[in-house]
Amino acid sequence: MAVLRVLGIETSCDETAAAIVEREPDGTGRILSDVVLSQLEEHSAYGGVVPEIAARAHVEALDSLIEQALARADMSLADVDAIAATSGPGLIGGLIVGLMTGKAIAMATGKPLYAINHLEGHALTARLTDGLAFPYLLLLVSGGHTQLILVKGVGEYERWGTTIDDALGEAFDKTAKLLGLPYPGGPAVEAAAVSGNPKRFTFPRPLVGEARLDFSFSGLKTAVRQAAEAIAPVTDQDIADICASFQDAVSRTMRDRIGRGLQRFNERFGPMAEKPSLVVAGGVAANKELRQTLQSISDGHGFRFIAPPLSLCTDNAAMIAWAGLERIAQNLPADDLTVSPRSRWP
Ligand code: KG4
Ligand code: ZN
Repeated sequence: MAVLRVLGIETSCDETAAAIVEREPDGTGRILSDVVLSQLEEHSAYGGVVPEIAARAHVEALDSLIEQALARADMSLADVDAIAATSGPGLIGGLIVGLMTGKAIAMATGKPLYAINHLEGHALTARLTDGLAFPYLLLLVSGGHTQLILVKGVGEYERWGTTIDDALGEAFDKTAKLLGLPYPGGPAVEAAAVSGNPKRFTFPRPLVGEARLDFSFSGLKTAVRQAAEAIAPVTDQDIADICASFQDAVSRTMRDRIGRGLQRFNERFGPMAEKPSLVVAGGVAANKELRQTLQSISDGHGFRFIAPPLSLCTDNAAMIAWAGLERIAQNLPADDLTVSPRSRWP
């Protein structure tokens, strides 16, 4: 098999992205270009992503981002072997924009189209960055997802745990909003927590101690609201203490939940030739306290902890191009041009 190059397109949420990634016959991947346009400013006034605004912004930006991705890789469409576009899950307006664009390019150039599951893109990124072998465990923590996934192979995934209410990033965002901190809330809560006392409030640690591997964060948000309402007026120090206590509750919860996941992995696979790996993905992976917690649980269970560069943890098109390359390498079929976007796709 020759060196293959794929154009990736990602438009499932509030990032418009295009990338060119290549794969050597030995499985080594290389990102030739990776351009991302965040719509953060368009949405921040509303305190969250507005689907209609997102879809319009994708329409306006995507063509020029694809041109930029090609230019930075010093290539034209004639040089790519295939197109990979996110077809779900996500906001339907954005998915339509990206998938239609991918189909149009595929039709005009006669190249194959791969319709990619966004979560699969996150799941396979560690094979691009670290050349990981299967199986491994993935913790996806973003504004929309909190999932612990066993990655067994391309297209072979087992979901071991998911949130039964809010996603972890959503819990950070809602906590920030309650405290009058800016959107997105994660970075704001983390920054405020630095000067706070994590022991001042004891917030709930949902599902801790239970054998199932699910997550729950809505009770935590309610407890934060009650704590804030009980103080009047709320000072900056109170906010810092609440944020620090919130992060502490999150860390303790994750320590329990993920620790059980690693234990289950070890029971299932027994001693392996190489150390098994825990990979983190999603925007919340930026959180330093969470990273430290995951590193320490990994050490404790004999795992390697892998945190890809943040630009590849958050939404990007390189992971979509790579997922397409993985499918090609497995001789999996391309998609028919009649393929439809799916806002929900487990
Ligand atoms: O993966 P991502 O960029 O986008 C989607 O969810 O689509 O994740 C964004 C989420 C937001 O909820 C944001 O508040 C959270 O990641 N986040 C953080 C931090 N940076 C971003 N949460 C905690 N600590 C951070 N430093
Ligand atoms: Zn994502």
